[in-house]
Amino acid sequence: MYKTEQHQVSEAARRNTHLDADGYERLYRQSIEQPDTFWAEQANRFVEWMQPWSKVQESNMARGEAAWFIDGKLNVSANCIDRHLAKRGDQTAIIWEGDDPGQDRRISYRELHEQVCRLANVLKARGVKKGDRVCLYMPMIPEAAFAMLACARIGAVHSVVFGGFSPDALRDRILNADCRVVITADEGVRGGKNVALKKNVEKALNDCPDVHTVVTVKRTGADIAWHEHRDVWYHEACAAVSADCEPEPMDSEDPLFILYTSGSTGKPKGVLHTTGGYLLSAALTHHYVFDYHDGEVYWCTADVGWVTGHSYIVYGPLCNGATTLMFEGVPTYPDASRCWQVIDKHQVNVFYTAPTAIRALMALGNEPVKSSSRASLRLLGSVGEPINPEAWEWYYHVVGDSRCPVVDTWWQTETGSIMIAPLPGATNLKPGSATRPFFGVEPALFDNDGNEVHGVGDGNLVIKRSWPSQIRTVYGDHQRLIDTYFSTYKGVYFTGDGARRDEDGYYWITGRVDDVLNISGHRIGTAEVESALVLHDAVAEAAVVGCPHDIKGQAIYAYVMPMRGVTPSDELLVELKAYVSEQVGAFARPDFIQWTPGLPKTRSGKIMRRILRKIACDELDTLGDTSTLADPAVVEELIEHRLNRA
Ligand code: WTA
Repeated sequence: MYKTEQHQVSEAARRNTHLDADGYERLYRQSIEQPDTFWAEQANRFVEWMQPWSKVQESNMARGEAAWFIDGKLNVSANCIDRHLAKRGDQTAIIWEGDDPGQDRRISYRELHEQVCRLANVLKARGVKKGDRVCLYMPMIPEAAFAMLACARIGAVHSVVFGGFSPDALRDRILNADCRVVITADEGVRGGKNVALKKNVEKALNDCPDVHTVVTVKRTGADIAWHEHRDVWYHEACAAVSADCEPEPMDSEDPLFILYTSGSTGKPKGVLHTTGGYLLSAALTHHYVFDYHDGEVYWCTADVGWVTGHSYIVYGPLCNGATTLMFEGVPTYPDASRCWQVIDKHQVNVFYTAPTAIRALMALGNEPVKSSSRASLRLLGSVGEPINPEAWEWYYHVVGDSRCPVVDTWWQTETGSIMIAPLPGATNLKPGSATRPFFGVEPALFDNDGNEVHGVGDGNLVIKRSWPSQIRTVYGDHQRLIDTYFSTYKGVYFTGDGARRDEDGYYWITGRVDDVLNISGHRIGTAEVESALVLHDAVAEAAVVGCPHDIKGQAIYAYVMPMRGVTPSDELLVELKAYVSEQVGAFARPDFIQWTPGLPKTRSGKIMRRILRKIACDELDTLGDTSTLADPAVVEELIEHRLNRA
C-alpha cells in the first residue's frame, strides 16, 4: 500500500548538514532521556535571555498545562532583531517580492529595527499596553511582520486574522479576543486583483464598539472610508514617533499570540502560544529541519495569517538571523513559472510550500519549471496536508532536479512548530512519509478503544509528553482545551490525525480522523460550513463532508435540505455558495451542493456522516450497514442524485 523505496540521503545533501544520522539519534535520545539537559543547552544556544530561568519545565498533560523556562525573561522582538544588529545590521532580514514581478523590497535588520520600534511607539501612543490584544488583518507585505514584532516588543498579544476571512469571521475573532486595536491595509493585492481589506474591517467594526484605533497601511491608495478619531495612517503615525523603543522584558510564559483555528465542533478556537518555549521551538526546528546555514535565502510561501507564516516566515527565521522571503502573490501569477522565477531572481536556497501548490503546478506541466535554473536550491519543504507520493516525486525530480532533499513536515497550529519531519543529511526519505519525530517529541498511536498500538500499525496520533511550543490554552476557555485535546486519551495530547507507523518507525499521516476538512491546506470545520448554510433563509438543515480533490486535497460536499415551500433551483445554489463565502471566506465555499429531502439519521436523530462521506466520495460498494437508519429510503435518494461521480 505504501511505497517503501527509500531515497538515500545523497552525498551532496549530506555534505555540510548540521547533523548526520548518528547525530540525530544521539540528540533525539538525549532529548527523551535527559530532557532538561537537552532543552537547557538549546535554550542557551538559540535564544537570548534577559533573566535566566529557574526550572526548565513543568507540565500536567491531564490538565493540558505546560510551562517552559520558568521565571526566565526575554523579548521575542529583541531576539529576532536587536541581538543581530552588531553582526548583521546591514544583512537583509526580509526580502519582499510583490505580486507584480517588477516590485520588490529588501529590509535590513537595521531597518527592521527602526520600523518595528516606530510602530511599537505608535501602539503605545494609542494606549496599547502589555497583555492587550491587537488584531492584524493584513496582506503579505513587510508591515505584517513589523506589526507582529511591534506587538511582541511591547508585550501586546497579536491575533492575526487571515486576509481571506470575511468581515463576519473577522468580527467574531476581534470580539472573542477583545481586541481594541486593528492593523490593516487599504487593500491587498493577489494575482493581479485587489482585496478590499479596509472595507471588510469597516463592516466588521459595525459590531465592535470597543475598537478605538485602526492603523492602515497605504498599499494601493484606494479610496477608503475614514473616521477621524479612530483611523490613523500607518506611514503618518510612524513618522511622528521615535525610532527607538526599549523591548519589554516578558516572562517566558507570557502570551505571545492568539491564532484562531477550526475544530470539529463550535466556533473556531483561539490557540494561545507563549513566549520562551514557542520561540525556542520555532528557531530550533527552522535551524535543523531546513538545515539553515548563515547567509542563505529562505522562502516559505505560507500566508502570515496561518501558523506556518508565524513560525516559519517570521519568528523562526528571524530568531536565527536568516534572510526570509515574503511573497505577496500567488504561484500562478503572472504565469505558472512564478515561483521558479522568484527562486532564480533572489537566489533562494530553501523553498517551503504546500502540497496543494505542488499539485496545481504539477498539473500545468514541466515546461514552466524547466524555463528556470533553480541552481541555488538546496532543500525543498512541504507542509499542511499529506503529500501524495506522485506529487512528492515530481517535487523531488522536476523542481529539485533529484538533488534537493524534500522535508515533509507534520505539525499543527496547536503544536506551534514542526513535530515530525526528516532532517536533511540525517534521515533517509520515503515519498509521502513525514518520517521521524523531532527532538523532544514522543509520538504514539492509540486505537479507538484507548489502547496503545506498538510497533507497526495504524492508529490515532498522540503526543505523549510536553514540548516547548505546546498550545497553552484556548483563549478564554481552558476547559475547551482539555476537552478537545487532553480527554480522548488520558494524559496525552490528541492531534485529531490518523497515522501509520512502518517497520522503520516512520510515520505516515493519513489525515484527520475528526470532522475537520483540509481544503488546499486550510483547516475548516464541517460545523462552520454547516452553520453558515443553515443561517440562510432557504435552508432547513445541512450536512457537510469532505471528498478527495486532485488539486485541493479535499473538496467540500454539502447536503442541503430546503425549507418547506422553497423550490431548489440553480440560482439558489449559486446564492448559497456565495453566502458561505460571505459568512466564512471564499476558501470555505462548497464545491458541491446536493439538494435532499432529508438526511440519513439514526433512530436517535444523529446524522450518519459515514454514509454521507461514502456517497460524496462515490464509494458505494463500502457503504456499510444502513439498517439502523430511521429512514433507509433517504439513502437511495441521495445515491441516485449524487454529484461527484467517477
Ligand atoms: C495537516 C499547519 C500530513 C494535519 C501546519 C494537521 C499534515 C493539520 C501535514 C494542521 C503533513 C499538516 N502531512 N498532514 N506534513 N502538515 N497536516 O493547524 O491534518 O493549519 O492536523 O497547521 O494539517 O493544520 P494547521
